[in-house]
Order: sequence, then C-alpha cells, then structure tokens
Amino acid sequence: MTKYVINGGKPLHGEIEISGAKNAAVAIIPAALMVDGVCRIENLPEISDVKTLLHILKEMGAKLRVVDKRTLDIDCSRIGTSHATFDMMRRIRASYYIIGALLGRFGRADVAMPGGCNFGGVRPIDQHIKGFTAMGANVKVRNGIVSAVTGDGLRGATIYLDVVSVGATINLMLGAALAQGITIIENAAKEPHIVDLANFLNSMGADIRGAGTSVIKIRGVKRMSGGFYSIIPDQIEAGTYMAAVAGAGGRVLIKDVIPKHLEGISGKLREMGVTIVDLEDSIIVQRDAPLLRTHIKTMPYPGFPTDMQPQISTVLCLAEGTSTVTEGVWDNRFKYVDELAKMGSFIRVDGRTAIIEGVPYLTGAPIKASDLRAGAALVIAGLAAHGRTVIEGVNYIERGYEKMTQKLSSLGADIKIIFERDEPRFKKKIV
Ligand code: EPU
Repeated sequence: MTKYVINGGKPLHGEIEISGAKNAAVAIIPAALMVDGVCRIENLPEISDVKTLLHILKEMGAKLRVVDKRTLDIDCSRIGTSHATFDMMRRIRASYYIIGALLGRFGRADVAMPGGCNFGGVRPIDQHIKGFTAMGANVKVRNGIVSAVTGDGLRGATIYLDVVSVGATINLMLGAALAQGITIIENAAKEPHIVDLANFLNSMGADIRGAGTSVIKIRGVKRMSGGFYSIIPDQIEAGTYMAAVAGAGGRVLIKDVIPKHLEGISGKLREMGVTIVDLEDSIIVQRDAPLLRTHIKTMPYPGFPTDMQPQISTVLCLAEGTSTVTEGVWDNRFKYVDELAKMGSFIRVDGRTAIIEGVPYLTGAPIKASDLRAGAALVIAGLAAHGRTVIEGVNYIERGYEKMTQKLSSLGADIKIIFERDEPRFKKKIV
C-alpha cells in the first residue's frame, strides 16, 4: 500500500504553480467525444482521473497524441460507438459526462453508473435523467447500466433543475450542444468549470450563452469541428495549498491562479487571520499569527466550496475558540473527522454541522484517507502537526492533485511517498 509520511511542524516557504482544473478537465475530455476533428487541449493536469477518462476515450476509438507534458491532441472523428467500457467508467464520477456526450453525438448511450469518491452520502443523477427525458430520451437504469435512447437525436427543451447541480448542468449542456433546437437550463450551477466547458464547446463551434449565470441558453449546432483550448487553473488545488499555509504557517506565492475564483476561500482565510494578497494571476498567502475561529457554510459557487470543506475544517482545529462548519451541498461529508480525532482534534458533528473546538496543536498519527478532499485535509493536518503522520489511501489524493508531495517538498515540507508493491496504482501508459 502506498503511503505518505509527513514529519510535521515545518512552516511552508517559497512558490508553487497550480495545475489545470480537475473538474474542468473531466468535463472537457468527454466533450471532445462530440467534436468531429482534432481538439488540442492545453494545461491538462497529470492526475489519475484524467488518465482514466483518456483511457475510456481511447478504448472507444479516439486517437490521442501527446504534444507536450500538458498538451494533448484528441481526435474523436472516427468514433462509431455509443457504448463505453463499463469497468473503467465505474472508477470515476465524471464518467457520467460520457452519457451527455454520446447522446448528443449519436442519440443514444450505454454507460455504467458512475463511481468516484464516496464521502458517505448518496450521489443521485435524477436531475441528469430528468433533463435528458425532457429532451426526448428514453432513459433506463438497470443492473448498474444507464441506457438512453432517442428517436433521431436529442431535441431542445427548457429544463428547470430542482437542485443546483454541477454534474447535471454540464451533462445537459453537452447533450444540448448538438441537439435540434434551443435548450434552456434554469437554476444552473455557476462554477468556473461550467464556464470553462462552455468556452471549450464554443471554441469548437457550439452556441452557448449565459454560462456562469443561473440561466444557460444553448442553440444546438449540427457539427463541432476541432480547435485549441487551454483549461483554467484548479481553484480547489490552489485553495488546498492556501489552507496548507494557514495550517502549517509560512509564506507562499501561489502562481497560475485566477484570484477571482478564490474569493470565497480568501475571504474566510482573512477572517481567520491569514494574510492574502491578490496579484494578477497569483496570490501570496502568509500566516505568522495565531488562527482565529470563524463560521462557514458551504454553498454552490460563488459560495464557499464544498470541495474545500475538509481542508478548512482541519485548519480550524488549530484556531482558538469554537468554530462551526456547515455542509450545504452534500448530505454527509464528515467521514474524515474520526481520523483527525486520532491527531488530538475536537470536532463534534451534529447533522450537517461540525462544531470544532480549537486545540493548540495536533499530534502525528497513522491515519487513512477516505476520499480525495478528505485526503488533502489529512495532508494539511500532517503538515501542521507535531511529529510523524503516516497517511494511507493516498490513491484518492492522486485522483485529483498533481504531484502533491513534490509541490509541498519544494516549499520545505518533510513529506515522502512510501511505495509498497501491492498497491493497485494506475501505471499503464495511456498514450
Ligand atoms: N444532486 C441531486 N440530483 C442530481 C444531481 C445532484 O439531488 O441529479 C444533488 C447532490 O446529491 C448534491 C447536490 O445536488 O447534494 C450537488 O451535486 P452536484 O451534481 O453539483 O455534484 P457532482 O456534479 O456530482 C461535482 C464535483 C464535486 C463537487 C460537486 C459540488 C465533479 C466531477 N465533481 O460533483 O467535486 O463536490 O460538484 O460542487 O465535477 C471533488 O472534486 O472532490 C468533488 C467531489
């Protein structure tokens, strides 16, 4: 089993670069399935979720060509199947975007129900199904397989989402891009990766307006041809390193970010006594004074992101007084709290709220990541703690963070990867 070993208590100093956004990349790669030509995608993060999706596309007949470390040409012009390999699909959540892409392109799709991080609650796709049904698809879920069929392709419709869902907004945008007529998605999610996907599709020839607001209008086009696109920086990766500096102390220049996307996170860190200086495409994070308590509720963008909830809760374990963190997006995302307790934290979870009593310090311990962001939170705890922390389950972290141990080491952290032979790592070369 691969583990991270951290000798904590060292403040972080220096500069790091942020990679391309995971949640944009995992939408843009399936979107390439709809393009009749070569898409050149730049700033792809080197993470295992991206590798899994590229593998799925390759198995479907896509031609992939590496241009450089972060740039890939994807040519799906010869794909003739509406069926995606079930085994790989079950590994990641974002594989459900293949439903929208295939429905848009072929008018039918057979894909496995998505897998991905399980942070404790149910992850339904009823809003995706409701939207595709309104667009004329007959959707059935049987034995873990989603089968969606249309007569002669999707037709535009007006769809009101009952919950603000990133996944449903993206999936319906994909389907609608090549549908007949106009689709309007109301109560749409507004996350930066939704805007990024719309920009990608538009640069390939789609006609999408309003992404980033709660009403998105998509005029279906007959064909999308190739083009170039560069993925936005990862807001959550940047936020995670901001939280790491807040937890461990120090001063770090975080480069290649869009400060506007980080406003929700920066605002709360400032309340906690952390200095944040916004520059044009980078930020400085500095923490050299005691942390202050605060109260946070996660919400869809532009609110405080749920994908930063475990990391910020971990930092609040070290703030004087009582803080509360309420999860406003997912039913249950507090599995990591039991692991933090092994390090001396005091967190009580009452429904969707964590009540955090600050302690002067955490102590290193053997702990286990249960999902991607929980894993990132445990790394922050290890960096801030006195003594040695050994983290298992790091394959979750590598799904979404590119070279986390190298980036942290470059900031002066004492963090090492211990490889053990029986870990089922994704070593296979994709292209
Ligand atoms: N929901 C429904 N029905 C649906 C879809 C969602 O009830 O059909 C509910 C969910 O149960 C949840 C809420 O709506 O309570 C929001 O879910 P959403 O659909 O927005 O989540 P998602 O698309 O499955 C994406 C990110 C998550 C992130 C959420 C919220 C990707 C691949 N995943 O998930 O990211 O937490 O949006 O921002 O984009 C992560 O990166 O660690 C991660 C989990």
